[in-house]
Amino acid sequence: MNYEPIVKPPPERMPVTPNLIGYEAVGDAFRWDDIRAELDGLPGGGLNIAYECIDRHLTTDRKDKVAMLWEAKDGRAETYTFAQMAAGSNKAANALRSLGVEKGDRVFVFLERVPELYFTVFGTLKLGAVIGPLFSAFGPDAVRDRLADSEAKVLLTSPDLWARVKDIRADLPRLQHVVILDRRGGGDVPEGTVAWPDVFDAQSEEFEIEATDPEDFAIMHYTSGTTGKPKGAAHVHMAVMGHYATAKYVLDLHDDDVYWCTADPGWVTGTSYGMFGPWSNGATSLVYEGGFAAGHWYSLIEKYRVTVWYTAPTAIRMLMKAGEELPRKRDLSSLRYVCSVGEPLNPEGVLWGLKAFGLPIHDNWWQTETGSILIANYPDMDIRPGSMGRPFPGVEPAIIDDDGNELPPGEEGDLAVRPGWPSMFRTYWNNQELYESRFRNGWYITGDRARRDADGYFWFVGRADDVINTAGHLVGPFEVESALLEHPAVAEAGVIGKPDPIAMEVVKAFVALKDGYEPSDKLRRELIRFGREKLGTIVAPREIEFVASLPKTRSGKIMRRLLKARELGLPEGDTSTLEED
Ligand code: PRX
Repeated sequence: MNYEPIVKPPPERMPVTPNLIGYEAVGDAFRWDDIRAELDGLPGGGLNIAYECIDRHLTTDRKDKVAMLWEAKDGRAETYTFAQMAAGSNKAANALRSLGVEKGDRVFVFLERVPELYFTVFGTLKLGAVIGPLFSAFGPDAVRDRLADSEAKVLLTSPDLWARVKDIRADLPRLQHVVILDRRGGGDVPEGTVAWPDVFDAQSEEFEIEATDPEDFAIMHYTSGTTGKPKGAAHVHMAVMGHYATAKYVLDLHDDDVYWCTADPGWVTGTSYGMFGPWSNGATSLVYEGGFAAGHWYSLIEKYRVTVWYTAPTAIRMLMKAGEELPRKRDLSSLRYVCSVGEPLNPEGVLWGLKAFGLPIHDNWWQTETGSILIANYPDMDIRPGSMGRPFPGVEPAIIDDDGNELPPGEEGDLAVRPGWPSMFRTYWNNQELYESRFRNGWYITGDRARRDADGYFWFVGRADDVINTAGHLVGPFEVESALLEHPAVAEAGVIGKPDPIAMEVVKAFVALKDGYEPSDKLRRELIRFGREKLGTIVAPREIEFVASLPKTRSGKIMRRLLKARELGLPEGDTSTLEED
């Protein structure tokens, strides 16, 4: 392990502010009860994420402060104050109620990053229903699996996205309403769907928030494992304590900050830190509808005077590739703090931040299940490039062995966390057994392998399972293999993450063909297109290699580890359980 160099954030760019009383001091003084006391709560001991993020600001000076600076892909801009966010989410709550949505029901959104998505997330939470955001690049199989498992009652989507997946409707008997939001203002909606203006426009801007308990379900995000379909990690309203505390102490958000989280709400970073963290702290948050484009991203920072920026290693590597000249063409002096999450951030990335912005990039670690940041390079902390940082106060991560015993510094083991932090998931939807299997000797097992050094910094080693991390998005190999098997030419498929200099890993499939089919470039292209149409561009394999057969265990399980070892040219290890060809 290389612990050097330590990078100090430049003090003139990271002024000491009331949030920044120092890692050690916060650590000693930190109590979750104090965090709860900083939030408002509902009368009678209730807690509601939407209230803490939006409505509680209406009785303060923040009422007419800009909550959301929104910019469309085509450059049109809109701004929404906290009062307008409250009105929009109240109308959405009334609209959902008019469609029959009740407390506990699941409402899903499959949309680009448009303001109505945000209104609907908060409207659903106000109703006490459970919101499920879906990534807009998903294909029909990915959307159907999630809507079916959650038994969603309402889906809000756009004409284009619905056209991509509409055939799934026949498989979703519980889906009562599909609401179509057409921002281009088209008139007709497809048969069997409802137009957003018809349910939204005439609604009242008043809504009395449901008296939700801190332990009531609020939001679910589907995440991938090695086996089976994606699982819905379900979070409760109490999670807002974690969003609030970490956005305050790790992201260091203050009233005068303009904050930009580049993650999509289809993934947990886009909700926990694209909405709940900044807004529970009353910060102004930039939402850009479009995707990555180096030059445009810099121009957004310049135009909106972004001060705190939360992005991802793949984006940083893409910015690095675009060169150091590009940021120099823009006035990026508003930036005071840059953070990153989702995959390992190479030391070069941390140091590149110093070159490009005069600021090191602060990596932090968490996952869908943890709901909020648990390990971080805290704002005033020396950064050890390549390390995920140190534990958030009030959280107890450890490196443990197979029996659940803590390992000493320097030794690699399973990264585990002592349960009890507020934003921890409470179950996998419909799969309590799997949830329970994630605990060992009183520890929650994260699925990551890591080390801790003598000073308490954590260092990521890799995943303990076969889950692929492509551009910060987790992909389950089983989901991809199942989709490929539906193609008439495919007899067997084995899917791995192939190392990639930018996206960390790309999805690669090894495919054995049925009798009567021959490998060809045409078939390869067809399978790639088939995968994209079913799963969407993020989840589908980027590369396909034809093989005569796949290595399997005696019980018939495909040995993905062996495929990966072959791909990397590594020793293949013990192959005694391999099928004999
Ligand atoms: O493997 C770890 C990796 O991403 C996983 C969590 O992904 P997901 O559930 O999609 O949550 C995304 C929100 C953070 C982790 O189990 N990961 C996340 N952050 C880091 C990381 N790997 C290395 N370094 C990180 N900072």
